[in-house]
Amino acid sequence: MIDLTRGPVTALTGAGVSAESGVPVFRGEEGLWRNYRPEELATPDAFRRNPRLVWEWYEWRRELIGARSPNPAHETLATMDKTLPDFTLITQNVDGLHQAAGSESVLEVHGNIWRVRCTACPYLSEDHRVPLPELPPRCPECGGLLRPDVVWFGESLSQEVLDAAWAAAAGCQTMLVIGTSAVVQPAASLPMVALRNGAQLIEFNPAETPLSRQADDVIRAPAGEALPTWWAAHRPT
Ligand code: OAD
Repeated sequence: MIDLTRGPVTALTGAGVSAESGVPVFRGEEGLWRNYRPEELATPDAFRRNPRLVWEWYEWRRELIGARSPNPAHETLATMDKTLPDFTLITQNVDGLHQAAGSESVLEVHGNIWRVRCTACPYLSEDHRVPLPELPPRCPECGGLLRPDVVWFGESLSQEVLDAAWAAAAGCQTMLVIGTSAVVQPAASLPMVALRNGAQLIEFNPAETPLSRQADDVIRAPAGEALPTWWAAHRPT
């Protein structure tokens, strides 16, 4: 029996949580952009070779995401954040939709598409302009090339964010894993860390993942429908 008041609750989300907002997931035909896979564009090498091409992809995603709103799954997670005494939200998403729904302290392990940083100086800033005035954009302080403040394949995650995510996974009693294919490391290890430390694992995903067999419960439905229903049945009264 799941009792959310028994201890800390941690949620890990992936692209699937934003699918019902109209943001395409990565692994699947509709995640493709001009026939490129994310692994071909979200890399430091791709950016070195062709910064404009990589920025065109991000521009496409920024335009797409900028026109989208949080769905009931994001909203339910924001309610959990406000209701549960010890709740941590970890996301692999860079779209900012959890914050738009009202979640306050989100551990964004892969960064945020609405921040840019300079490749030549410490400049880091939020930038919500769509389209950007020039592609690739230039640093207003030193003229260097700006890049999205996201983590690319082959790059390290922020140690501070990763440490906090690891601690939340290791210390939780219940872990909700929502809308992730659970194949991109190190985020994919977080549910295993929770399991090893005795947490119960609940997966929300219409498709099977490498985690499904180890989960205590698997809810095979779109998160925007399944999560509000599940929360209504399990929220502390
Ligand atoms: P994926 O695209 O790999 O997986 C999306 C998952 O969401 C799949 O398991 C789908 O079955 C599931 N899904 C689809 N619709 C859903 C819905 N309505 N409700 C719930 N689940 C649904 O995305 P991620 O696992 O987030 O990294 O990918 C991980 C990382 O790989 C991303 O953060 C990104 C990507 O390349 C970087 O950019 C570094």
